[in-house]
Amino acid sequence: MDLKKNIQKGRLPKHVAIIMDGNGRWAKKQGLARTFGHEKGTKSVREAVEGCANLGIENLTLYAFSTENWNRPKLEIRTLMRLLVSSLKKEIKTLQDNNIKLCTIGNLSTLPVKVHKELSEVMEKTKLNDRMTLTVALSYGSREELINTVKEISVKVKNNVISPEKIDESIINEHLYTRNLPDVDLLIRTSGEQRISNFLLWQIAYAELYFTNTLWPDFNKEDLYQAIIEYQKRERRFGKTSEQIS
Ligand code: IPE
Ligand code: IPE
Ligand code: MG
Repeated sequence: MDLKKNIQKGRLPKHVAIIMDGNGRWAKKQGLARTFGHEKGTKSVREAVEGCANLGIENLTLYAFSTENWNRPKLEIRTLMRLLVSSLKKEIKTLQDNNIKLCTIGNLSTLPVKVHKELSEVMEKTKLNDRMTLTVALSYGSREELINTVKEISVKVKNNVISPEKIDESIINEHLYTRNLPDVDLLIRTSGEQRISNFLLWQIAYAELYFTNTLWPDFNKEDLYQAIIEYQKRERRFGKTSEQIS
């Protein structure tokens, strides 16, 4: 299968976000412990990153660990954090070779020191890369992000930096973790679950949603291309009529 040739270069989403789900179920199907699914899932991360970069997509955001995921068993959390550090060490070359900048969103202060340190290093090394921005959502929750945004704006209102009447969409955008990113155009979720799980609630207001039954460790470039092709078939009306669009 070569789906790439069916993608129209001029109509690519500017921002693709992925809820990478199904690692645990993938492992269970093979009779393995959940952590093997997470390990295999790192290969799919590379597929998605390289696939998006090769197509010319400018922004890819991956949901790697939610604020709610802190409620998982301690051992699983430790494995996920360990995998994160080792993948970062391993993938720095892929990022550099493909001219990709790494960014993060989320409440990073809650992450282990080692993860924090490794992330800062990779972000520093890749900060001038400009082909694609890869944003990893870590200890991310959309509600936490919105609470943080409200707090930051409130302080500015209190200090007379912003007047309440001036608060609009752009002021809110500027205070979100995603302040440097455009709105999400295409949101993909793997594993058959059809929910948002506290991911980018504000930013997906007009995103096209794409759900696939593929479990994340099985996800590859062809699956990504399939999602982009489906996205290009959709008519994005943004509240207007079909006639107005064409
Ligand atoms: C996604 O896979 C990875 C994370 C949420 C960290 P899951 O671990 O949620 O896998 P399932 O949904 O239990 O199969
Ligand atoms: C969402 O997946 C979070 C990530 C993919 C990192 P979950 O597997 O944690 O979501 P729920 O709990 O099934 O909604
Ligand atoms: Mg899950």
